[in-house]
Amino acid sequence: MTSESLPYPVLITGASSGIGLALTHLHLSRGDHVIASSRQPDHSPLATLNDHNDRLRLIPADLATAQGPASLAAATAGYTDHLSRVIHCAGVLHDSSHNRSPEKRLENLCAENLEYSFRLNAWAPILLAQGLLPLLRQQPAVFAAISARVGSITDNHLGGWYSYRSSKAALNQLLRTFAVEARRRAPKLTVLALHPGTTDTPLSAPFQSRVPEGKLFSPPWVAEQLTQQLDRATPEQSGRFINWQGDTLPW
Ligand SMILES: NC(=O)c1ccc[n+]([C@@H]2O[C@H](COP(=O)([O-])OP(=O)(O)OC[C@H]3O[C@@H](n4cnc5c(N)ncnc54)[C@H](OP(=O)(O)O)[C@@H]3O)[C@@H](O)[C@H]2O)c1
Repeated sequence: MTSESLPYPVLITGASSGIGLALTHLHLSRGDHVIASSRQPDHSPLATLNDHNDRLRLIPADLATAQGPASLAAATAGYTDHLSRVIHCAGVLHDSSHNRSPEKRLENLCAENLEYSFRLNAWAPILLAQGLLPLLRQQPAVFAAISARVGSITDNHLGGWYSYRSSKAALNQLLRTFAVEARRRAPKLTVLALHPGTTDTPLSAPFQSRVPEGKLFSPPWVAEQLTQQLDRATPEQSGRFINWQGDTLPW
């Protein structure tokens, strides 16, 4: 991995936990400036980092709301004219406090949970891209969102998890569409959908008993693998859906 720090800040959403928190640690440790967002960053592990680090800026935003992505983009633009990298990590699979859990069968579907998954997993990143485009056009930059292999339509042999699967499939299509437009409007920008592999975080915690031995990765390891992919990314690769090793995944 390059030890050179990035010329402009990195914006990381979902930075308070799991993969986003590990990516925040990693980028800070190599000297990057990080803008980290979650709903309440001051009441999360990010707050302890902020005490010690003048390269970290915390911005609260609820990205599942209609105004959340635009307000995060506006707050980011108030801090910098350019971004080197955006990594959208915020996502939802389950939330017991709102009675959200991945559907096993058709009868489990409900409109509210479907909508919430789409808001956070699919709409938030593309609305964020809309607001941030002026910060991503002039200099080489990467816009990446953490998708999931279960969002692959070709690879769906198990069924279930309707809301999560379909919101990640929608995310992939939105990113692909953005990448096509960015070729013309922001030729120095690389747009990527990333699959991190199953990672030991609160999101995967209820489902880890099914993970084969050696296939549950730690957040710091995943952050390192994904960062290597982002460091190598070039606009020629824009619009791809890749895993932590850089392998192309089926849509
Ligand atoms: N873990 C895995 O095995 C795995 C596998 C494939 C893909 N992924 C994807 O990787 C991404 C990161 O997942 P993770 O495993 O690191 O999950 P996690 O530890 O549960 O973290 C989720 C993050 O999303 C943020 N978030 C939740 N609701 C939000 C909202 N309404 N507005 C803004 N931020 C919100 C949370 O922050 P607050 O709650 O503090 O706001 C938290 O920082 C997700 O997109 C997930 O789908 C994970």
